[in-house]
Amino acid sequence: MNLVQKLEQFPRVQMLWGKTPIVRAENISSETGIELYIKRDDLTGLALGGNKTRKLEFLMGEALACHYDTVITAGAVHSNHALQTAAAAKKLGLDVILVLRGKEENRGNLLMDKLLHADVRVYDVKTGRELNNIMQDIASDLKSNGRKPFIIPIGGSNPTGVLGYIKAAAEIVEQEQEMKLDFDYVISPTSSGGTQTGLLLGFKVLKPVTKILNIGVGDPREELLEDVLNLINKTSEAIGIKADINYENLKAVTVDGYGFGGYGTIVKEVIDVIRYAASKEGFYLDPVYSGKAFYGMLDLVNKRIIPQGSKVLFIHTGGLGGIFQYEEIIKDML
Ligand SMILES: Cc1ncc(COP(=O)(O)O)c(C=O)c1O
Repeated sequence: MNLVQKLEQFPRVQMLWGKTPIVRAENISSETGIELYIKRDDLTGLALGGNKTRKLEFLMGEALACHYDTVITAGAVHSNHALQTAAAAKKLGLDVILVLRGKEENRGNLLMDKLLHADVRVYDVKTGRELNNIMQDIASDLKSNGRKPFIIPIGGSNPTGVLGYIKAAAEIVEQEQEMKLDFDYVISPTSSGGTQTGLLLGFKVLKPVTKILNIGVGDPREELLEDVLNLINKTSEAIGIKADINYENLKAVTVDGYGFGGYGTIVKEVIDVIRYAASKEGFYLDPVYSGKAFYGMLDLVNKRIIPQGSKVLFIHTGGLGGIFQYEEIIKDML
C-alpha cells in the first residue's frame, strides 16, 4: 500500500476547495536570486483560510466517525486554528467551545469567532498548557450532562491532524509533476508542530531529496523539538511508515532565531516584510507566523545558507486575521 492509499484508510471530511495553487513569486525571485514559489494554503476556503483546514479534514472525519456532538479546542485569542475549527464544526452541525487565552477584545479572529456563533470563553492565563486543564474540566461537565465532547489539542497537532500535512506533501509532489517543477527546499513556519511533522514525514517517504526547513516563530525551542519528535513517532506508528528522524536530524531542520522575542510578539521587521511581499506580489503574510517565517527565509537567502538559484517553495499557512487582531500595534509601525 502506498502513502496515499494509507491516508485513505482514515476518515476524512472534505473541507478544502481542492488543491491550493502554487504560484511563482516573479518579482521577489528576481530580487533575491532564488526561484521562489508560494503554496497558497492561505486560500483553503474555510473561514479566512490557512493550514488548519488540512488538519481539520481528518480531525472532523474522526469527530463524525465517533459521533461526537461538541468540539472543544484552545489557543490564543488571535488563534487561526480556533477560528477554523469553529467554522468546520458549525458547518457540520456540531457545537463548538473555544477556550482562549488573552484579552477579550472584539476584533480580528475573535470577532470572526463570535460572528459564527461559537461559544467563546476567554481566560487570563499565561500559557497554552493551562488551557488544557480548562478544556478537560469543560469536557467532564459536558459528559456528566450526557454530551459527547471531542477535545482537539492546541493547533490541531495530534497524529490525526498531522495526516492533513502528510496529504499536503503528496499534493505538492503531484503538483511538481504536473507543473514540471522540482523544489530543492520546502519552507514553512512551525509552532505547535503539526504542519512540520506532516511535511517531514510526507517528503521522507515521497521525495527525500527535498530539504524541508521549518522556521520557529518564537515558541520555546526545546518544547517544540520535544513535541515534534513525539508527534513524528506517534504519527508514523499510526500510519505505518518508518520515520528514521532523530532529535539531531530534527534540530538541524528546525530553524531558530526568527522568533523576535517570543511567540506572538509583533515587530516592525516582520511588518516591513509583510509590506514587502504585499507590494511585490499582492499577497498578505501574517504578523505571528508566516511573516516571521518569510523574514527567516529571506535572511537565509541573504546569508547564502539557501544558495542562489535554489528552487524554493514557501508554504503560506494563512493567518490573515492576525493583521486585524493587532491593527492598533501595526498602524504605529507604518
Ligand atoms: C497561520 C499559521 N501559520 C502557521 C502555524 C503553525 O502551524 P503548526 O501549529 O502546525 O506548527 C499556525 C498555527 O497556529 C498558523 O495559524
